[in-house]
Amino acid sequence: MVKFFLDSANLEEIEESVSWGVISGITTNPTLIAKESGMSFEPMVKQICALLGNNPVSVEVLGTDTDSMVNEARLLSAVASNLVVKIPMGIEGLKAVYRLNQGKKKIACNVTLVFSVNQALLAARAGAAYVSPFVGRLDDISWDGVGLVREMAGVFKIHGIKTEIISASIRHPRHVHEVAAAGSDIVTVPFSVLRQMANHPLTDLGVERFLRDWERSRESEEM
Ligand code: E4P
Repeated sequence: MVKFFLDSANLEEIEESVSWGVISGITTNPTLIAKESGMSFEPMVKQICALLGNNPVSVEVLGTDTDSMVNEARLLSAVASNLVVKIPMGIEGLKAVYRLNQGKKKIACNVTLVFSVNQALLAARAGAAYVSPFVGRLDDISWDGVGLVREMAGVFKIHGIKTEIISASIRHPRHVHEVAAAGSDIVTVPFSVLRQMANHPLTDLGVERFLRDWERSRESEEM
């Protein structure tokens, strides 16, 4: 079944959405973390990881060369056992993912900023546990974000690739069901989109009407 991650570093949003029973992980990025002022980086990451139990929390490295990505990844993964290191796609990133998957203590990697099937195939081959195609950012340049996820899921299926696809950069609820139909394993959604997914004006109207009809029938019984 398709899983939902929350794309957020906001503790209140994370706590609230986890209480709905629908969240199987968190993705963050440097922009999302920078928005959360008032708490330093490591305690924030620790708290997010604790709120998620055993579920994965992706935290991105800031280094741009393989050595610094690998060093950062090792430090980050020591913060919590459910931490997944987010590595930007590229040759340096691929080398980092490969190195982090050698030896006894493998570190789970989510390769981010993926915009083509070939990038996803390379990331999977290097050892990525997850790849994150950015649906909304492709749509922003008049490309087909959902189409990319569909092709990627199709190729992964043909080749029995176990790397999970996290559809990211989700802009609206329609993206969510379209990438689910396209075969995405996971969709990471901002809190605003998660709330939109749960709501529908006809649901609200329906509840209102049922209650009104019930009250009316009680009133007429009392007369
Ligand atoms: C995914 O892991 C990213 O954090 C995120 O989805 C980026 O989305 P944006 O294009 O809205 O910044």
